[in-house]
Amino acid sequence: MRSSLSCSIRLRLAKKALAAVLVVGLGSVTIASLAQAHPLAQTAGEGEALFQSKCTPCHTIGGGRLVGPDLEGVTARRTKEWLTKWISAPDQMLAAKDPIATQLLQENNNVPMPNLALTETEVAALIAYFETNPTVLPPQQPALPAGNAAIGRQLFTGATRFQNGGPPCMGCHSIAGIGALGGGALGPDLTPAFNKYGDVGLATFLNTVPTATMNAVWTRQPLTPEEQADLWAFLQEASVAGRPIQALWQLSALAVGGMILLLILGQVYWRRRLVAVRRPLVARSRISS
Ligand code: HEC
Ligand code: HEC
Repeated sequence: MRSSLSCSIRLRLAKKALAAVLVVGLGSVTIASLAQAHPLAQTAGEGEALFQSKCTPCHTIGGGRLVGPDLEGVTARRTKEWLTKWISAPDQMLAAKDPIATQLLQENNNVPMPNLALTETEVAALIAYFETNPTVLPPQQPALPAGNAAIGRQLFTGATRFQNGGPPCMGCHSIAGIGALGGGALGPDLTPAFNKYGDVGLATFLNTVPTATMNAVWTRQPLTPEEQADLWAFLQEASVAGRPIQALWQLSALAVGGMILLLILGQVYWRRRLVAVRRPLVARSRISS
């Protein structure tokens, strides 16, 4: 009994230490990106750290496609100028109908790469890193504790508060399985998120929170590993729960279609029936007059 107690205390301490390391780590990344005092720091090393924290949910280098294309040899197939523009503002390139960007979008199931709000220095560091022809295999599943979807739902809706005080996900996102009212519309509906990123990709997303708006919120108030795991489990559940809801819609569409058909048929028969009754009546009235 006592040993299992001290064991669970030790486990909790270990988790706290892990969270502290995460906070310090994220903090130093932010400080590093703020400290632009030394322009020579556009090193491949910085680019590598950035790539790990912001790009790995969607890209490998030589490890196959994830949400976006494999970036192996990207500095050979694109000019530096194009890469700089694209990594800085993919949304603007797509809006301007840049031909390469448009084709890439089509090849990637119309999933657009988000604008990650990187600085010029960061973009240069990333390109310097690509020029070293590195290999980055798909991320391993981060060692998350087993998640609890029910707790994840409570965190999502705000019924349970985040340990570091972030806003509930529902403030900006809707998702299947949180009731008819849904959530905010600043961020995309998250019902398909699990299938879009895949299990490892989503775990990496929740761990590194790479996209601009999300990053601005969650770097200051990081999700704990438990919270990440619970949200992951809830997002997985919602991606499955999304399907019956769709099926329900299809069923009710069928039902409505069936009713319309019945109404049309009914009306046709109803009229004919009247015709059939009227004719003899008319005939009789003619005879009697
Ligand atoms: C949310 C997923 C996502 C994230 C995060 C992401 N990308 Fe992308 N990226 C894509 C998609 C999808 C495409 C394909 C173009 C499109 O559909 O918009 C793409 C295309 C690219 C291309 C062009 C590839 C080619 O073949 O020309 C480069 C370069 C690139 N991304 C670099 C990055 C870098 C660097 C980061 C991190 C700073 C990053 N991406 C983060 C999804 C992402
Ligand atoms: C302040 C508003 C806000 C909050 C709160 C928020 N998000 Fe987001 N989220 C966004 C926006 C906006 C995007 C689109 C990408 C971006 O700009 O970051 C996004 C994107 C995402 C994506 C990627 C979706 C896709 O289709 O690519 C996931 C996953 C996600 N959020 C999960 C969460 C989770 C889990 C929480 C709660 C812990 C949360 N978000 C809280 C605004 C928010």
